[in-house]
Amino acid sequence: MINYCKNVTIVTRKENKYMTTDIFIGSDHGGYKLKNEIIKHLDDLNYKVQDMGCYTEEACDYPAIAKKVVNEVLETGKKGILVCGTGIGMSIAANRFSGIRASHCTDTFTARMTRMHNNSNILCLGERITGIGLALDIVDIWLKTEFEGGRHLKRINML
Ligand code: RB5
Repeated sequence: MINYCKNVTIVTRKENKYMTTDIFIGSDHGGYKLKNEIIKHLDDLNYKVQDMGCYTEEACDYPAIAKKVVNEVLETGKKGILVCGTGIGMSIAANRFSGIRASHCTDTFTARMTRMHNNSNILCLGERITGIGLALDIVDIWLKTEFEGGRHLKRINML
């Protein structure tokens, strides 16, 4: 942010992107359809979602997409969602980066607990594993559940 004079603040494009994006999302071809359902759902709920690819169903490499979302999450401190066929490749790829706590969830209990205890900052889902209805519930619970802190913060700092 640049302050040219007392009453005028210019917001640079990059800062503006970070202020208006709530969630960064990405998928490979195996997660493309579920990702689009999630984007529609979050849009209906008035979240601002930035799609980091892929943008067609053509085969692509999940580590490359994971890295794009990871970079945004690490730079902005916002949350990310990654979808592939199983959710496993995306979680392996994302968890290779320091500061990322990516959680592969297939039920709402783990979605809640991974926010409360692990302060999960990336949710991974598998389009070939989890149906749309359950996946959207997982997303909702994961997004609205707060980190408990306390003893869990100490443990996260040991990672
Ligand atoms: C793509 O076929 C598939 O391997 C990928 O989406 C993912 O499931 C990898 O873990």
